[in-house]
Parts: sequence; structure tokens; C-alpha cells
Amino acid sequence: MVNERVLVLCATGKAGRHVCRALVEAGFDVYGTTRSASGSLAALGVTPVLANYTLRDDLERALAQTNAKKVFVLTDYFGAAGRSIEREVLQGKHAIDAAKAAGVDHLIFMSVADAERFDAKTHHIKAKVILEDYLRQSGLRHTILRPAAFFENLDDAANWNPLKKGSVSFLTDKTCKFCSTYDIGRAAAIAFGHPEAWAGKSLDIVTWQGDLAAIAAALQTVSGLPVRARLAMPMALRRLFLNDLHHMCLYFENEGIAANPEDFKAIVPNALSAEDWFRFHNRYANGEPIVTA
Ligand SMILES: NC(=O)c1ccc[n+]([C@@H]2O[C@H](COP(=O)([O-])OP(=O)(O)OC[C@H]3O[C@@H](n4cnc5c(N)ncnc54)[C@H](OP(=O)(O)O)[C@@H]3O)[C@@H](O)[C@H]2O)c1
Repeated sequence: MVNERVLVLCATGKAGRHVCRALVEAGFDVYGTTRSASGSLAALGVTPVLANYTLRDDLERALAQTNAKKVFVLTDYFGAAGRSIEREVLQGKHAIDAAKAAGVDHLIFMSVADAERFDAKTHHIKAKVILEDYLRQSGLRHTILRPAAFFENLDDAANWNPLKKGSVSFLTDKTCKFCSTYDIGRAAAIAFGHPEAWAGKSLDIVTWQGDLAAIAAALQTVSGLPVRARLAMPMALRRLFLNDLHHMCLYFENEGIAANPEDFKAIVPNALSAEDWFRFHNRYANGEPIVTA
């Protein structure tokens, strides 16, 4: 396993960065796509590959250049697909087709936990279901990882939710299931390391569950400071301005993701809890450390 090459698409994102980190730690020779020449992937031990992960030509070039036979694929409705399900499906199909044409031996696709169970108004998850089916039909050896909500959403300045000292915000204050993107990477390392065992399988990535008050309590424990739990916005505004995410939250609040942290801990026993994640992340959005002692 050690020194086997993996190409991670979208390597500078919330998921990609920590997937790369976990794969490097597991001994893989990791390459990551980015459109920017000025990125920080090299500091993680990742070889940057200049490529736009949504373009078939760029993907073919990246696969040829690296000769990686293991690929971690994700797609993104809000960013790269510009809120178009069709475009996201096309981008995902490009990645699967390019991998197949390049003779990739094992493709891991990052989907979403319970993707098929969200209602019709949760547009941003629809392409995942189509791409999972496309991958199953492709004949490629594959594994599908299905994460719950990322802890990284708790510090997401790009989406108007920077983590500030003394408070923590999320779109719902009800009990939800979470995961760290680092644990997506640790699961990917296990699957890439045991391709026969993981061929054709799906794994839900749920590492912790709790409500916003429990998240605030976790940050309070880790920081040693009082922490207020705040809804990121009132429910009426969530429905009005973030209707797609509002419907995702309704699923979290009313039904809830089926898998439990114990299921995932059978695979990754030390998967991160909320407290673990705040220690691991260890910074507020302004760069100050959370743990000061
Ligand atoms: N947030 C959650 O709780 C959650 C939970 C489960 C699943 N997911 C899934 O996670 C995926 C998003 O992953 P993420 O949060 O890691 O994404 P992200 O942080 O938004 O990363 C996006 C990356 O894509 C590249 N990119 C951005 N815009 C682009 C464009 N127009 N064209 C080409 N490349 C572009 C950028 O890399 P460069 O600039 O370096 O090229 C950027 O680093 C989605 O599919 C979502 O459904 C999210």
C-alpha cells in the first residue's frame, strides 16, 4: 500500500484537503488537483496538479501526468456546478469516464449520507444519487463514501459562518449527525488499502451526533471559555433565502440520517467527536488558536 499513488480531485476544498492529509498519513503518494498555482498543498505533503476538476480534458491530463490508479472524486452543486444538477451530473460523469479510460483500478466517490431520502426541494443532493447509479453501472471498481454534515460547516467564513471566540452557529439547533472531513479521508485510506474488501460497497460517515447546545458545550470544554449557541439565522429567513439547505435541515430535524457513530467507529474506532474536532481544527476564523493552554 505504501507509496501507491492517489489522485484527489478538488484537493484544496473542505473535504479534499483533509482527505489528502489522511491519505498522506496512511502512506499514500498523494496528488491533488487545484486551479491555483499558489496553493498550500505542498505543505501537506501533496503534489499539486494544476487542473480544473470539472473539465474532462484537464482530468485526462492529470491522470496521465500522475499515472495514479486510485482516484478520489467529488462534485459540488453550489460551487463548480453553479447550482445546476445537470452540470454536476456531467462533471461527475466526466470524472468517472476519464478514470475508466485511464485504467484506474479503484475510484472512491464522495456522495452524501441518505442521498436518496431527501425531498424534491433539496436540489443540491440530487446529482449524487444519479452519479452513484452511473458509477455502479460503469464497471469500475469503486467505493462510495456518504458523509453526514461536516464539522467544517461550523467554521465556514466563505458561507458567512466564521467561527468566533465565545459563540458557535449552525442552521439548526436540533440534534444532527456530523463527521469530520479528516475521517472521510481515513475511511478512504482504509478502502484504497483493501480494494477487494471495499469493491462495490458504500459507507456512511457519521462520527458524532448532538444538538447545537452540545456543540457549544464541546467548544466550551476545549477552549475553556463560555460559548453561546446561536442559530445562524431565524427559521423564516432560512426558508426564504436558503430554501435548498432549509429542506436538507428539515430532513435532519424530522427524520435524521439513519447511520450512527457506532457504525462508523467499527471501521475507524477513534473517529472524531465534536470535542475532538475542535481540538483538531484548533483555530477560530481569525487564525487565533482555540486551545491556548
Ligand atoms: N458541507 C457539508 O456538510 C457536506 C456534507 C456531505 C457532503 N458534502 C458534499 O461536499 C461537496 C463539496 O465539497 P467541499 O465542501 O470540500 O467543497 P469546497 O470546500 O467548496 O471546495 C471546492 C473546491 O473546488 C474548487 N472549485 C471551486 N469552484 C470551482 C469552479 N467554479 N470550477 C472548478 N473548481 C472549483 C476549488 O479548488 P481550487 O480553487 O483549488 O481549484 C475549491 O477548493 C459537495 O458535493 C457536497 O454535497 C458536503
